[in-house]
Amino acid sequence: MTSSNTLTVIDNRTATKYDLPIENGTIRAMDLRKIKSGPDDFGLMTYDPAFMNTASCRSSITFIDGERGILRYRGYPIEVLAEHCTFLEVAYLLLFGDLPTPDELKTWVNDITHHTMLHETTKRFMEGFRYDAHPMAMLVSTVAALSTIYPEAKDIHDPANRLLQIKRLIGKMPSISAMSYRHSLGFPYVYPDNDLSYPENFMNMLWKMVEPKYAANPVIARALDILFILHADHEQNCSTSTMRSVGSAHTDPYLTTAAAAAALAGPLHGGANEAVLGMLDEIGSKENVPAYVKKVKEGHGKLMGFGHRVYKNYDPRAKIIKWTAERVFAVTGRNPKLEIALELERIALEDEYFVSRKLYPNVDFYSGIMYQAMGFRPEMFTALFAIPRAAGWLAQWQEMITDPEQKIARPRQVYTGQELRQFIPMDKRARALHAKIA
Ligand SMILES: CC(C)(COP(=O)(O)OP(=O)(O)OC[C@H]1O[C@@H](n2cnc3c(N)ncnc32)[C@H](O)[C@@H]1OP(=O)(O)O)[C@@H](O)C(=O)NCCC(=O)NCCS
Repeated sequence: MTSSNTLTVIDNRTATKYDLPIENGTIRAMDLRKIKSGPDDFGLMTYDPAFMNTASCRSSITFIDGERGILRYRGYPIEVLAEHCTFLEVAYLLLFGDLPTPDELKTWVNDITHHTMLHETTKRFMEGFRYDAHPMAMLVSTVAALSTIYPEAKDIHDPANRLLQIKRLIGKMPSISAMSYRHSLGFPYVYPDNDLSYPENFMNMLWKMVEPKYAANPVIARALDILFILHADHEQNCSTSTMRSVGSAHTDPYLTTAAAAAALAGPLHGGANEAVLGMLDEIGSKENVPAYVKKVKEGHGKLMGFGHRVYKNYDPRAKIIKWTAERVFAVTGRNPKLEIALELERIALEDEYFVSRKLYPNVDFYSGIMYQAMGFRPEMFTALFAIPRAAGWLAQWQEMITDPEQKIARPRQVYTGQELRQFIPMDKRARALHAKIA
């Protein structure tokens, strides 16, 4: 008798029936290989551009239920973590699977804090960038350059060595981001201050001027820490799957993290919050919101910061950001763009067009306005995202390295090119052939 936990497939080319086991709501793509039209057939594959419906790994790190607006790290709801934890506590949770005890946290924070310094050669390397280099391009290149300083990082199979590089990367991401920011402003670099917490130290490296000791505003520091928590991981998104894919070649973690950061730098991934600010500038004032919404409904552009590939109810991070933003504005003063954003949200959430398409504000809708109120220029937004996401990337990388089922990532293709062709000697080639190649 056929087990109920199987998928029965009939290949109409051969009239053969196959029973494929179903596990965790998936069938194994490799089980399809045995479905062949004849002895010379390679076997059936799936065609899935952009991996819209393919699980590439098992993971116990982050759970998302997009329909119900749920995001959990290691089983803990994001709302609970944002309310009660620090980012470093959450980074520990992502990497080790459990929240740290007080002693574990103390050691962890101490370890990360003592890895925030950059080698002087790294500083000089950064000084070589053009004055107007984009912070994200500087970040990607500098993280890759760390590989030249820590060649032992290659030994990715030694757990202790792996952990050392993880601590270095989490420690140095804010230092590199802050240096890239100050470089683009022409300000001198600021060294880390080990007395300060992770977000306070980042603020110190960003904004310290001539004062002997930087005093971070606690509300801004906490808001930054919450933003770090919200951005720490988001399962198999573009940059995380890049991390796993590049890491599967056993590339060292610096080069691998640089590759993931490069994916994040793309405007379809880490850059949407910058686009929200552009849109709010274009709208200009609260009174113009209805006309703008009408234009979007008529198919002219999109409401940036609305909609999500996974979240079809609401983005739980957007809710947390909204109340965090209120606290920040109490310190910085209200960003005038907030009025426009609130009106836009109010109108869109009542509108049949957006409701029927399940379009809700996503994480980027309010984060850009808040970053701007904190004093960041839009070019810095993606680097702010990369700092905490490094913890998620590294947790996923570690999980991949220690997963016995994983191998070097190597997708298949459906070849659509020429069949075997006859070689044409140089003097017989017609110009038209070259035109075709272009
Ligand atoms: C995030 C995003 C890429 C998800 O795309 P997706 O899952 O592929 O959704 P689709 O493009 O299939 O959209 C479904 C429908 O909603 C519409 N839609 C999606 N996002 C929209 C938006 N922000 N504004 C207006 N209409 C939108 C689409 O035009 C489409 O309408 P149709 O069914 O009449 O053709 C998309 O919502 C978007 O571009 N949002 C704006 C950019 C943004 O904020 N990105 C940050 C993501 S965290």
